[in-house]
Amino acid sequence: MAKGENMPGFMDKKVALITGGAAGIGRAAALLFAKEGARVMVTDVEADGAGQTAAMIREAGGDASFLRTDVGEPAQVEAMVKAVMDTYGRLDCAVNNAGIEGTIANLAECSLDNFDRIIRTNLRGTFLCMKYELPEMIGQGGGAIVNCASVAGLIGFAGISSYTASKHGIIGLTRNAALEYGKAGVRVNSVCPGGIETRMLDSLADQLGSDDAGELLAPMHPIGRIGQPAEVAELMLWLCSDRASFVNGAAMTVDGGFTAQ
Ligand code: NAI
Repeated sequence: MAKGENMPGFMDKKVALITGGAAGIGRAAALLFAKEGARVMVTDVEADGAGQTAAMIREAGGDASFLRTDVGEPAQVEAMVKAVMDTYGRLDCAVNNAGIEGTIANLAECSLDNFDRIIRTNLRGTFLCMKYELPEMIGQGGGAIVNCASVAGLIGFAGISSYTASKHGIIGLTRNAALEYGKAGVRVNSVCPGGIETRMLDSLADQLGSDDAGELLAPMHPIGRIGQPAEVAELMLWLCSDRASFVNGAAMTVDGGFTAQ
């Protein structure tokens, strides 16, 4: 059924902030949240891509703004949340999605620089985003945060120990924030995608000597294929919506059965 005037979207009247929204899963989330009625602030360290995502939303009749933000920089993250408040006056949903994969190497061969870069964006970035998002949500009486972890937040993957550690850390931060802010009306959950067709997966496949991430990784997924960014966005949308009102502190898989094995 098409969404009509008498059929409000999942996100009507809500304001959503999406980090890493220039591409991949973040862009898919921004487009879906906007389609469901949210006003969206798209941020990314890649300003051009974030601007393109916001333009795509506006061309489709939605309301979106964008801002260049490096989630590893406290002053930029503080300014990002302030920009949402200045622009839209509230913050209902935050999707902390920005992340990097780094270089594949077993732990003893993994450079300290690779470890530091991955932890800085993925773990420190998620910490900083929540640190500045939570006070605004608490102040307005509630909100919902979704952090992007990974199946690598639940199990180990040989060759990507720093990434795995960062994603396990994100699930830990998520659980703690859920305990600390549930009574303030803020729900905090994480999503754990399996292999999703994005630049990141292409980079990992390339490092493994394959120019076809789908062909390489589909057999590892019981569903027989890798996933699409929009399939992760659907879970992010639901977790941020009032339909998920009793879901808090969860680490939900969207992995085609990967972790069921
Ligand atoms: P992507 O590379 O297409 O998108 C990541 C976005 O994050 C890019 O637009 C990039 O510019 C941005 N970004 C990187 N560093 C940043 C920083 N310091 N500050 C702000 N933005 C920054 O990759 P994808 O796959 O869409 O990744 C999104 C999230 O999904 C990541 O957290 C990733 O770890 C996670 N994920 C991806 C999976 C996959 O198979 N593609 C599987 C599981 C989790």
